[in-house]
Parts: sequence; C-alpha cells; structure tokens
Amino acid sequence: MNLADLNKVALAMVTPGKGILAADESSGTIKKRFDAIKVESTEENRRDYREMLFRSTEAMSKYVSGVILYDETIWQTARDGTPLVKLIEQSGAIPGIKVDEGTQALPQCPGELVTVGLDKLAERLKKYYERGARFAKWRAVIDIGSGIPTQTAIHVNAHALARYAALCQAAQIVPIVEPEVLMDGDHDIDRCYDVTQRVLNKTFQELRVQRVELEGMVLKPNMAVSGKKCAKQASVDEVAEKTVRMLKACVPAAVPGIAFLSGGQSDEEATAHLDAMNRIGGLPWKLTFSYGRALQAAPQKAWSGKAENVAAGQRAFTHRAKMNALASKGEWETGLEKKVA
Ligand code: 13P
Repeated sequence: MNLADLNKVALAMVTPGKGILAADESSGTIKKRFDAIKVESTEENRRDYREMLFRSTEAMSKYVSGVILYDETIWQTARDGTPLVKLIEQSGAIPGIKVDEGTQALPQCPGELVTVGLDKLAERLKKYYERGARFAKWRAVIDIGSGIPTQTAIHVNAHALARYAALCQAAQIVPIVEPEVLMDGDHDIDRCYDVTQRVLNKTFQELRVQRVELEGMVLKPNMAVSGKKCAKQASVDEVAEKTVRMLKACVPAAVPGIAFLSGGQSDEEATAHLDAMNRIGGLPWKLTFSYGRALQAAPQKAWSGKAENVAAGQRAFTHRAKMNALASKGEWETGLEKKVA
C-alpha cells in the first residue's frame, strides 16, 4: 500500500468546491427511479441516462470530484464507443465503484440487515483498479425502530465495513466507508444523533482493529436529522450544529474528509444543511457531498427518457452540482436557487 497516494486521492475527493456524484444505483434502485419518470429500465436507457450526466461538461469539470459507479456502468461504453469511465476521467473527475453486493436479513435480529460482498472482493478490486477505479464504496444500513438497532447489527456491519476498507487499501483503492442510519421513521433528531454516534464509534473501533489507515479513507455518514415521520422537524441550524458536534465526538482528525449522503432529504434541504455546517468553520476535516437523489432527482425529471431533453437534464444537474459545490464552501444562499436558467 502506498499511503501517500491514497491520501492524495482522498483529499482530491473532498476538494472544497467539489463533491461526489453517487450514480451507483443498483439495477433494482434505478428501476424505481425510472418508474417514477415512466422510463423503462433497459441497459440502453441506463447507459443513455448516465452518459448524459457524465457529459455535463461544466458540472463534471467544475463541481464533481468523483463519480461512484455501479458494476454494470463501469463496463459500459457511450453511444460513440468511448468507455463511460473514460468520459469521467476526461472531465477531470475520479471514477469510483460500489463494491458491496447489497443486504441480507441478519439472523436472530428481526428487521435488521447486514451488507454482504466480502467473498472474492480482493479479486474484484483488482479488476476495478485496472479499469480505472481509484476509490470504492460500501454501504451499511442501520434502521431505527422499536428495539432496534441492536448491538449485533451495529457490530457485524462495522466489522464488514472495516474488512472492506482494509481490502481496498491493500488494492490501492480509497474506501468510502458508509454507515447509513436511515431517516425513515418517527424518531426525533436526538435519537438519530444517539444511534449515529454509536454506529460511528463502533465503525472507527473496527477500523482501528483492522489497521485501516484513516488518512487513506473518506467517511460517508448520514447527518443528524429528524425521522421523516417525526412531528417535530429540526431546523437547518439545529441539524448543522448537532451533526458537527456528533462528528467531532466520533471522527478522528486524521480522516481527510467527510462526504454526506442525502438519504431522502429534499434537494434544497441537503444543500442548506451542508452549507450551514461549512459556515460553522474551524473543522478538522473537509465536509462535502456524495449525493445520489439530491443531485439526480431534478435531472431525472427534466430528462424523462427523451433524447430532446438531454440539454435540459444537463442544465438541471449542473445547477444542483453548483449549489452543492457552493455549500461545500459555505457560500450557498437560498436566493441562488431562484436564478435557475
Ligand atoms: P442518496 O444521496 O440518495 O442517499 O444516495 C447516496 C448513496 O450513495 C447511498 O448509498
């Protein structure tokens, strides 16, 4: 392992003014997104859609540091035969790859999941590296409910995240470590804070046990937010203040950067929260975005599967990428949203 090079890539991923496009929806998830815009989820449509994003020159070259791909996409070529991964490289962004293989029910823990995909991961990482991937992602899912999460679910998921991260670094790939505490449910922000703190503490404990180099990774956490069905929704300032406090208590300063997931927040909420955190300032790590839905909902709607809408889709993507890029520097303002072309 060359830690200096891993650190260089990790720092590039969290460059202020840039963030990560999470375009790594599994076939099941992208079908759900396409259903919502009444587009059939064929291999060609998935390719056309993602090609539209990766050819958004302004967004990709100015505001996107890296793109997380799904296995199918990393092997696909654009309409003109150029590998999609090359389009990303040509824009100046770094290609990354989702390497977990989804979740399975956790025995003895009703309603809880464990993320799988460690078998043969070392071999798969080697192939992805050869194809151009310089970072990877593994997502653990922790749900909040009555009696959950159990310590068992937190432990096994943290263990798997650390196993994955160690294998990535051995393959000269920067691991994005993503323990996602879901925002579904009616819990309040303080419950989310407590659960996320437990999850992060366990995750860093496992990372240490498994000798993962913190300088060569990026953390992708949820923010401390109210559950979607909670009657009392925390304000932007409360989310920012509590999330920063929680991260300071759990995330060592050796970690170069934190790139948040959006997790079902509205586009503008996800931007406002990131902006408010960066306005607090004086943080030991860079804070940026690694959004899926909060970057893609608008372009998906604008595109709606029609070739004549590609320019409109790219405009919508560029706008959201720019808003989040400003938020990564604490320079976003709500008024900028109204100036959309
Ligand atoms: P969302 O921003 O839609 O939560 O997706 C980010 C991601 O990569 C989840 O794994």
